[in-house]
Amino acid sequence: MWRRRSSERALSEALRRAAELLSSWDRALVVGHRDADGVTATAIALRTLEAMGIEAGYEIVQELSSQVLASLASRSVPIWFVDIGAGWLPQLRGLRFVLTDHHPPREAEIPEHVRRDIGEFAELTSDLYGGAVIPEWYGYSGSFEISGAGVTYLLSREILGRNGYLASLAVVGALGDLQDEATGRLEGLNRRILSDAVAEGNMEVELDLRSFGRSSRPAIQYLRFVSDPVIPGVTQCGRCVEAFLRESGIEPGALRARSWEELPREDKKRIVSALVRKALEFGLEPDEISRLIGESYTLVGEEKTIRDAKEFATLLNACVRQGETELAVSLAKGERGATLLLAEEVAKAYRRQLFESLKIVSGTLGLQRRGAVAYFHAGPLVPDSIVGVVTSILMSRYGSAIPVLVGLADTDDMVKASVRLSPRLKGGSLHLGAIVSRSAEAVGGYGGGHAVAAGATIPRGSEEGFIELLVRMVEESLNNEVEL
Ligand code: C5P
Ligand code: ZN
Repeated sequence: MWRRRSSERALSEALRRAAELLSSWDRALVVGHRDADGVTATAIALRTLEAMGIEAGYEIVQELSSQVLASLASRSVPIWFVDIGAGWLPQLRGLRFVLTDHHPPREAEIPEHVRRDIGEFAELTSDLYGGAVIPEWYGYSGSFEISGAGVTYLLSREILGRNGYLASLAVVGALGDLQDEATGRLEGLNRRILSDAVAEGNMEVELDLRSFGRSSRPAIQYLRFVSDPVIPGVTQCGRCVEAFLRESGIEPGALRARSWEELPREDKKRIVSALVRKALEFGLEPDEISRLIGESYTLVGEEKTIRDAKEFATLLNACVRQGETELAVSLAKGERGATLLLAEEVAKAYRRQLFESLKIVSGTLGLQRRGAVAYFHAGPLVPDSIVGVVTSILMSRYGSAIPVLVGLADTDDMVKASVRLSPRLKGGSLHLGAIVSRSAEAVGGYGGGHAVAAGATIPRGSEEGFIELLVRMVEESLNNEVEL
């Protein structure tokens, strides 16, 4: 993995070039990645093109392939790729395109002699890939500092200026990609985008207890789902939460009728202090306890189910994973009313399916352990569109004991792998995307991703070999880290 110093100038230059290209188009096709970040990025791109008077359609894709690219090329429309494509630059030559993506390009695509000189590099990339804006090239982390929706917003801002709603969508995209996980708040370029949303009055930020369902669930459930860290005997079980509240002098009844967001500040403070005391008593380390608190991002004036930016991201993800991509894009673009109601129904069905899948994996299947890696193979029992979420949830539960978790599930004719890094190891030198891509390619598949979350598609029957390679590379990387 190569890194260079952040260069604001080079990033601005890339944005300016892309803006110029876009402005010369009279129609466009937006191609976005199939997740919450990709959907918000798509909505930002579509609203931007609309405002520019450029007629545009869109397509949401799981991944690019030679076939997908060939069919896109045959439509002879200029394409704006969002949250996807950075790994396919050489194949994009010849297309009229603009690209805003936070995934890292493959190292082999950048000639070795220019990797050290940012000036020369920027010139070379502008010749080769004029419309590409890839902040990773200029030293920004695509895992923590900027999302696909974020880069797309930066380009939109270059053309239209500051826009509070589009900036808040970019925040939703970043949260959908879990970019706040390491520190409990948005960092880097994400923070600048956040400040646009706040300045325009679309978003509010506050420090709060970190759990899920701040505005949509009863507060008592919000407490139950506190999981980073788990406080044994307090969170994760309904009866424990009630006992804990009574012991702390708070009547649980009020927390059943209201959401966490609606509780009086004083009550929240009392509950959080009591939680921290419990965590200390249990012997959790201060740096773990501090993870209980983080920033919450509220979309001002929105309905309950999407007021919390993380919940908005989750709703979009649920739609996408149930195959309802059009619904997700309409919602992100700003449609409410029936669109929102429908999305909530879809999310309900999705939660049921997720619950069943989790039950299967943690009940019947169980996790296998091989050195630093734990894994499960769900075969046909868990849909391949859900295995990534199941893997993420299990990692948030078992991250203290497992460095890397792999979830496997059958697709039509291949096997989908989702790989997650323990939150404890975030920020270290282990880069899952690089490791997963190498392991997958070695067994005849393909894959990639970020430092903390990666995925692959591999041939049936190659699972053993894939896991073995992964274990070897993960352990090698962890050993190097210890020696440093
Ligand atoms: O699919 P999953 O949720 O496990 O993917 C995690 C991350 O890995 C995503 O950011 C995705 O873009 C990336 N990925 C990839 N190539 C694949 C599969 C996933 O780059 N074949
Ligand atoms: Zn993304």
